[in-house]
Amino acid sequence: MIIEQPSWTNLTGISDEEGSLRILELPFHAKRTYFIQGVPQGLKRGFHAHRSLRQIFFAPQGSFDLELTTPFKKETFVLNAADRKALIVPPGYWRVISNFTGDATCMVLASHHYDEEDYIRNFDDYVLWFNENFTNES
Ligand code: TYD
Repeated sequence: MIIEQPSWTNLTGISDEEGSLRILELPFHAKRTYFIQGVPQGLKRGFHAHRSLRQIFFAPQGSFDLELTTPFKKETFVLNAADRKALIVPPGYWRVISNFTGDATCMVLASHHYDEEDYIRNFDDYVLWFNENFTNES
C-alpha cells in the first residue's frame, strides 16, 4: 500500500463590516473535534502517528508548524490563520507540531473518537509499523 499524501483545502468565507465568516467543507465524516491553545513558546507537541485516524488541521488564529514525517520523507507545513487553508492529514504520518505563536489555536477535526490504541508513540515502533504497512512512497 502507498501512503496517501497530505493535501491543502481552502477555508472559504466572507469578511465584511459584520465580521468574518469562515467555512470548511469536510472531505470525510468527522466524529471528533479538539483544539490546542496556550502552548508555551518553543514547546513542541505531537511525537506520534495514527494507524487509522484521518485529521484536518487549521489555525483559526495565529500560526503553527506541522511537520509530517515518514521513514522516507519529512515535510513542514505552515498553518497560518491569514492563509485560510487547512491541511488534510491521512493516517500513517509521524507528526510534530511546533512554532506556536502566543495567540495560536490549533484546531483539529478527526475521523474517529479518541482511541489510544490508534496511537504509535515511539518512533522506532512507528518505522517498523510503516515498513510493514506501506511501500516506499514516490
Ligand atoms: P495527544 O494527542 O498526545 O496531544 P499532542 O500530540 O498534541 O501532544 O493528547 C494529549 C493527551 O490528551 C493524551 O493523554 C491523550 C489525551 N486526549 C484525549 O483524551 N482525547 C483526545 O481527543 C485527544 C486529542 C487527546
